[in-house]
This record gives sequence, C-alpha cells and structure tokens, in this order.
Amino acid sequence: MLQAGSNRDVAAEDRGQLNKGIAIYPGSFDPPTNGHLDLIERGSKMFEQLVVAILRNSEKSPMFSLAERLEMLRELTADWSNVRIDTFDGLMVEYAKSIDAMCVLRGIRAISDYEYELQMALMNRKLEPTLETVFMMPAVKYSYVSSRLVREVAQAGGPVKDLVPEVVEQKLREKLDPAYKLQETRLIEVSRKRKKKS
Ligand code: PNS
Repeated sequence: MLQAGSNRDVAAEDRGQLNKGIAIYPGSFDPPTNGHLDLIERGSKMFEQLVVAILRNSEKSPMFSLAERLEMLRELTADWSNVRIDTFDGLMVEYAKSIDAMCVLRGIRAISDYEYELQMALMNRKLEPTLETVFMMPAVKYSYVSSRLVREVAQAGGPVKDLVPEVVEQKLREKLDPAYKLQETRLIEVSRKRKKKS
C-alpha cells in the first residue's frame, strides 16, 4: 500500500495509481468481454502492477482453450505496460502468494454478483488473511455482459458486437462457423496466389 515520501510513490501517484504492489485479477475469461477489459483498465490505473490470471483447470469445459484465452488477453492488453497475463492452477490464494500479490481484484456488475463474490472473498480471506479483495464496478454499459451470455448469444447466431472486443468477436465467428474459417483460408490463399503472379 502507499508509503508516503519515497520517489517511487510520487511516480505511482503521477500515473494516478492508488496502490503500490501487485494485484491479481483472476477469472475464467471464456471469452474475455468488454466488461473484463473495462475492469483491467481500471485496475491498471489503480495498482502498480496487475496480473490477469486465467484459471487453468476449471471444472467447466471451456469454449476457448487456455492458449486461445492467453493469446486474446495478451493482444488486448498489449498497450498497458503494467498488465501481465498469466495462468494458474489450484488455489488462487496460493498463486497470489507465489507472485507476491497483495490484492485480488474482482468485478461486481449487479447486486446479484455480490453474494457469490462475498462468499468467495471471505473464503479467500480465511485461506489467506493477508490478501485483500477489492471489488470494482465496470461501466454501466457493460453491467449485463457476461462471458456465459456472450457464449450463449454467439452459439445461437446472435450479434455480440459491442459486448466483446473485435478480436474476440472474430474468434467466436471462426469457432462457431467452420464455413467462415474455410472462407477466410480460401481468401488468404487467393491473395497469396495473386501476389505470386504479380
Ligand atoms: O471468472 P470466474 O469463473 O467467475 O472466476 C472464478 C475464479 C477463477 C476466480 C475462482 O473460481 C477461483 O479462484 N478458482 C480457483 C480455485 C480457488 O481458489 N477456489 C477457492 C475460491 S473461494
């Protein structure tokens, strides 16, 4: 936390950060949504370093592989120098300790999230009393956006523009519409052939 007086404090304050040290933003991110990105941006302003940590062995069978989620999140956060993407397995608090994180960041969209988040935060506190959980709210325009609903809408062929970043929208399209992928590959081949001819 802030220790007033040192030069590093001034640097952190200059960047508008409230807290020094590492915070962890854990989750499934299947797929990353605009709500996640909104929270990452807020977290990056608040903490000196933010580690977005993707859970490796979720009981759920994910739509996107771990490698895909890593790649998407790395691309989406490339412009934030104090944000790092990692994966973890087992207890979140153990992973947090292993990277010296002092804080867990979680998003709360509506009061319905609160019960589960409170339960999780209190269990994590029981497991590791020194690790604090900080709740932040995403922008109101993302307050109804969840990975689960995005998957549901996309799987039913509905539009997910404005709910997820473009790169995620594209990946969803590729995953859910094999014909789209084939068409893309053909287009690339055609343009390669054209280039060779010219
Ligand atoms: O995006 P999600 O699915 O809501 O994220 C949930 C997550 C990954 C943060 C939570 O399930 C978790 O921390 N899992 C790791 C195992 C663990 O530590 N369980 C105890 C939590 S009280």
